[in-house]
Amino acid sequence: RKLVGKLTTGCVEFDEMMGGGIETQSITELYGEFGSGKTQVAHQLAVNVQMDREHGGLDGSVIIIDTENTFRPERITQMVKGLSEKYGMELDPEEFLQNIHVARAYNSNHQILLVDSATDLANELKEMGKPVRLLIVDSLMAHFRAEYVGRGTLADRQQKLNKHMHGLLRFGDLFNACVVVTNQVMAKPDAFFGDPTRPVGGHVVGHTATFRLYLRKSKGEKRIIRLVDSPSLPEGEAVVAVTTAGLTD
Ligand code: GTP
Ligand code: MG
Repeated sequence: RKLVGKLTTGCVEFDEMMGGGIETQSITELYGEFGSGKTQVAHQLAVNVQMDREHGGLDGSVIIIDTENTFRPERITQMVKGLSEKYGMELDPEEFLQNIHVARAYNSNHQILLVDSATDLANELKEMGKPVRLLIVDSLMAHFRAEYVGRGTLADRQQKLNKHMHGLLRFGDLFNACVVVTNQVMAKPDAFFGDPTRPVGGHVVGHTATFRLYLRKSKGEKRIIRLVDSPSLPEGEAVVAVTTAGLTD
């Protein structure tokens, strides 16, 4: 077993809550309402992972499985400029963009297949300067939710989802990579039976995600990130800000 790597979030409190950063060989789930910042955190990690270890990165490249067409290259450029300022370094946004491999998933079956394509690409990049150290699925559940509607389809959906989650875990292990997935919350709070902030995907996602992070909006740019589930770390909260320069303290 390879040594677990830690990827900085760029935020002191957030890193501390995570025991140093986002771990490789694990699935980290970001869930929360629309606009809570899941996609922003994912973009920031896609930048940070390319930095050297001295700056909290993993000297790696990224694969993004984009299911909702929310990847924004301009946003990456802003974040790279943000890091240039933060560290007083001259970083080239174009270089960062070249190390982000985005694949659009058209439906849930395609999404599952893209993990195989990601594996092929990561094998090709393995011997190069920037091996893949981060796989992002944004959003994990959107296609599954749209395609499997009605009670009779749930078992089928969960079986497919289980296969997908295990494919993601395998990728993380194989390449010593972080796997980060975004997830939505239940649309209708069920005041009677449970927690209104429950993520979707049921036990399958719950049991395969190693770290579960609940994001919520606070005042203005502020976001509160709560570590809800982790094998070894205590529960906790971190406050971060989503600014033009990216994710900051
Ligand atoms: P869904 O995918 O809709 O569920 O939401 P999400 O959790 O992925 O939200 P996302 O990460 O897209 O957050 C959107 C919010 O991030 C916006 O409401 C803004 O507050 C902030 N944001 C997005 N882009 C920028 C930007 O370019 N500059 C700044 N300052 N903030 C931004
Ligand atoms: Mg999003």
